Formats: sequence, C-alpha cells, structure tokens
Amino acid sequence: MHYPRIIAHRCGGDLAMENSLAGLLAAKQAGCRAVEFDVMLTADGVPILMHDETLDRTTRCRGFVAAKTFEQIRACDPRVPTLGEAIGMCERLGLWANVELKPAAGHEVETGTVVGRWLARNWHGNGVVSSFSEKSALAARHELPQAAFALLCDVLPDDWQQRMQRLGAVAVHLDARRVDEAAARQLDAAGIAWAAWTVDETALAERLFALGAAAIFTDRPERMIDAFA
Ligand code: G3P
Ligand code: MG
Repeated sequence: MHYPRIIAHRCGGDLAMENSLAGLLAAKQAGCRAVEFDVMLTADGVPILMHDETLDRTTRCRGFVAAKTFEQIRACDPRVPTLGEAIGMCERLGLWANVELKPAAGHEVETGTVVGRWLARNWHGNGVVSSFSEKSALAARHELPQAAFALLCDVLPDDWQQRMQRLGAVAVHLDARRVDEAAARQLDAAGIAWAAWTVDETALAERLFALGAAAIFTDRPERMIDAFA
C-alpha cells in the first residue's frame, strides 16, 4: 500500500487539541496529506476520537469514557468529535487516515465490531485501520473485508508474519525509538511497508527513512513537512 510519508499524530500533533477536528484542519494547513487518530466507544456505543480511557487529561471532566454517554461527553467538551465527523472532514480535506482502534479494557471486540461496521458503510477507505489490541483489529477486519489493515506493535514480534496473515495486514506500525536494523531488514526483505511513531526530531526521522520507513507519525507536522515533504 502507498503511504504518505508524513502522518500527523492524533489529528494535528501539537498544532491543536489532540484528536480534534481543529487538528485535522491544522494538519491540512501545515501541508500534511495524512493523519492518525484514536477511536474509542462511549457507554452508549458511539465511536469518538479519544486516546485515554479517562477524560481526565484531555478534557475538564473526570471519569471513564466507557462509563459516559456521548451526550455527557459532548456536554463536558463539545470539541470531542465522533468518528463520523472526523471521517467526514478527512474526506472533505482529502486526508488519508489511520483509524487506530483504542478500545477501553473489556470492550475490545465491541469496539472493533462497531467501528468496523461503521467504516464498512460510510468510509471510502482512504487509509488504514490498526490497533494494539489484536481482538479489536480482528473484529474490525471481520466487518471490513476490503479495507487495508496494519499490524500495530511496539517492536516487531517474532511471529509478525503469522500475525499479519491472521489480520490480512499490508503494513506494520512500530515504536520509532525501538526499531532496529534487523527488524527493518526483515520487513524490507519481505517487501512489507512499515511506519513508525512518534517522531518529532528530524535526526530520528532521517534514521528511520534511511532504514526504509515508508512513513513517520509526528506531533510536529510542520517541522517534518519542511524537512521531508
Ligand atoms: O498509531 C500510532 C500511535 O498513535 C500509537 O500510539 O499511544 O499515540 O496511540 P498512541
Ligand atoms: Mg494512536
């Protein structure tokens, strides 16, 4: 699969509130063609953009996302978008999207199923789906036979080929600081595209591109676009 080289992390990286529509717009204005965001379910099963299991760090409210309804979360912070709003904006702006399933503990299969089903009906498929949770990713894959999936892991596991096969994955996303030459060589030999998160320093980006990375996820999209686009 073809990866845009620079992917803004959590919508617009540091340019705006994380996982927000403002972030998508900021990424586009910075010259990015691609974004990544995290998707979690509310208590009433609405897929929203959210990284943490609690609201504490990113909103003025406290408590578990999975214990609040969508209405409660929007009342707390109207800037928290639904997956539908985010995908709609990506499509209007022409942004490629990495939809990362971020299930709350115990909601892995439900999250994959609900998000996969929603994407199957509403998404044109310009991007890739991933999750650290294999259960979640496999549940989404079941609903989304046509979409591109990436295996998401901190370091390349020994059984990466079997895991890619189970998921029907076309690429691998890895922790940028833990990518080593051996992993890069194995992926290169197999012709598998890989991308690395989160890269905010140009020196690290240079190292990863030299190792063969197809793309980097960054919280500094403007810096990376200046240096590499
Ligand atoms: O999907 C790549 C990256 O976003 C994974 O880490 O914790 O920022 O979601 P995290
Ligand atoms: Mg993420």
